[in-house]
Amino acid sequence: MSKAVRLDKFLADAGKGTRSEVKKYIQKGLVQINSQTVKKPEQKVTEEDRVELLGEPVSRAPEFVYYLLNKPAGYVSATEDRYDRTVMELITEPRKGMFPVGRLDKDTEGLLLITDDGALAHDLLSPARHVEKTYFVRVEGAITEEDRQKLEQGIDIGEKRLTLPAKVQLFPRDGSDMENSELLRRVRTENLPESYTELLLTISEGKFHQVKRMMAAVGKPVIYLKRLSMGPLTLPDQLKKGEYRPLTAEEVQKLKNAGCSSTGK
Ligand code: URA
Repeated sequence: MSKAVRLDKFLADAGKGTRSEVKKYIQKGLVQINSQTVKKPEQKVTEEDRVELLGEPVSRAPEFVYYLLNKPAGYVSATEDRYDRTVMELITEPRKGMFPVGRLDKDTEGLLLITDDGALAHDLLSPARHVEKTYFVRVEGAITEEDRQKLEQGIDIGEKRLTLPAKVQLFPRDGSDMENSELLRRVRTENLPESYTELLLTISEGKFHQVKRMMAAVGKPVIYLKRLSMGPLTLPDQLKKGEYRPLTAEEVQKLKNAGCSSTGK
C-alpha cells in the first residue's frame, strides 16, 4: 500500500504552485483524481491515483533530488552563510532540505553533490565506507620520490592516526600524458609559479582540509585544488564552472551501491 498524501501537498511538491495557490485551483474545480473533480485540498492521494490539473496529468515529485555541481572557487559549501555566497545559490531549482554532501573549501573547485537524501549523504560521508575521492592538485615545488612514498603509505597530518594510503599520479611537466590532456587543458589557466607540480591524488577519507594538510606535511603547499571524482561519479567535461545537472537514475543507483560498499566502484 503506497503512502497517501494530501492533494494540495501532492500538487505543491510536483511544482504546480505554492500550497495556497494549489488550494485555490482545487477549490475552483480545476483538479481531478481518477477523472472525478475534487474540491477538497485535504483529499488523500496515493501512488495508484491519476491526478490531473486542467486536464493535464501531474507526475508525482521524485522522493529525492540529486544534482552534480561543478563548484567554482569563491563559494562556501553550506546551506547558508552570513558573509559568503553559498553553493546553494547556484541551484536555480532549490528544494527544501537540500544541502551539499561534504565540503569543498571556498577556494576549491569541482565535483560537489547536492541532494536532500540525508541517508545517502550520511552513508557516503561515513568514515567506515572509504568512498574514494580524486583531486587534481597543483602544489608549489617539486614532489620527490620520498614525498610520493609518504603520501602513498600514510602521513602524519596531526590526527591520532596517519592518513590512509593514498594513490598518487604525477603529471609529466611536458603535458605528454595523452589520457589526461583534456583535463590539463581545462585546469592550466592561472599564472603559474616557477616551480610547481601537478598530480592526481586519490584519498578514501574526508578529514578537514585533508588534501591541503597532506601536501603541507611534505612541505608542498597547494596552490590549486579541484575534485574530479567521488566514488562512481566523475565531473563531466562539458559541465562548466557553476553549472549543475541532475544525476541519471543509473548514477544514483551506483552512488547508493558506493555508500554500501568499501571502494566506491
Ligand atoms: N581537501 C582539502 O584540503 N580541501 C578541499 O576542499 C577538499 C579536500
